[in-house]
Amino acid sequence: MHDEPTGNPPALFDAYPRLAERVPHVSIGDWPTPVTCLPQFGAAHDMAAMYCKREDLAHTECGGNKVRGLEFVLADAKRCGTDTIVTLGAAGSNHVCNTAWHARRFGIDTVAVVVDQPPGEYVRRNILRGLDAGTRYIPANYVTLLPKLIVQLLSSRRGEQVGRSYTLPGGGTSPLACLGHVSAAMELKRQIKQGSLPAPDFLYVALGSLGTAAGLALGCKLAGLDTRIVGVVVSYRWYCTAGRWARLARRTHRLVQRLDPTMPDVRIDKSQLTVIGTALGRGYAHPTPSSAQLARELHETEGIQLDGTYTAKALDGAMSFIRQHRLEDKVHLFWQTFHTGAPSTSPHLPIEGIPPHLRRYFD
Ligand SMILES: Cc1ncc(COP(=O)(O)O)c(C=O)c1O
Repeated sequence: MHDEPTGNPPALFDAYPRLAERVPHVSIGDWPTPVTCLPQFGAAHDMAAMYCKREDLAHTECGGNKVRGLEFVLADAKRCGTDTIVTLGAAGSNHVCNTAWHARRFGIDTVAVVVDQPPGEYVRRNILRGLDAGTRYIPANYVTLLPKLIVQLLSSRRGEQVGRSYTLPGGGTSPLACLGHVSAAMELKRQIKQGSLPAPDFLYVALGSLGTAAGLALGCKLAGLDTRIVGVVVSYRWYCTAGRWARLARRTHRLVQRLDPTMPDVRIDKSQLTVIGTALGRGYAHPTPSSAQLARELHETEGIQLDGTYTAKALDGAMSFIRQHRLEDKVHLFWQTFHTGAPSTSPHLPIEGIPPHLRRYFD
């Protein structure tokens, strides 16, 4: 069962107390996540001011950007009497692993329909943690993904479970989950007021399922921050468009306005958002040499570890953007979304305990 809440309430509830009464929420993360300056890395790139928001530290054991959305989604799942979350993703998805890990603490199981992806250290770690949290992994490919998801949902609705199943889209992204990132922007505003950093001119974030970026875009508007949000495509270029990103931010805005009619009107359109598609390389989860080099550099200079699928590419896209537009004298903020689990916290499973379709990641 769930331990005592570990964190402070989300900054969103301070700014809009009515929401606290109307939105389901459970405390999971450690808020606020720290902001750190990156003086050596910045100096090496002739930059005046480079900062990092440490979303990796959102939870000591299972942090990263997904924690913020899970505080709302798991509360909603609990409210619905759910005993199983059904979701989809890549085999080593952070979303699947984080959902299963935290859901287990609320007595909720996870079924994940998963597609193959390039192997990697974090993929193995996530699969092991997911299995340790009781996740049932169903193999699929891009053709069978949706039919298999529907089969899982129907079978759970036919009464094979005690409670109701709850569907989570890929990446765990929905307007409800985006509220976590709206809150992150309000938290950032507070940190700026407290003097932890100057108001950033630019904020860089990985674009996977767009939830983090959409919540931040809305949150910055509501918080009165004039920061330009730059999203770096790390999943699919056809999916990560400024139009889809802006639409998700507007849907999230409509949700909060429904819940709290005092919520101000703000305008979000695609022209306010910048998408960088050049750091993706061969595709989702395929590492690129330039991003690996930057990740090494950041680790050596500032001790911050990135991953090759999301954050190293986000930093790569950010640095190209800064160079290309000669923005070295501006204030930049990098959104560090990847939790580096200490290897000692990864469970060990004998190979026989790993479903056959997932064993190839351990070869
Ligand atoms: C470490 C990490 N960073 C960034 C992202 C992208 O976030 P979003 O899916 O909200 O766009 C993900 C998504 O899975 C992630 O796992």
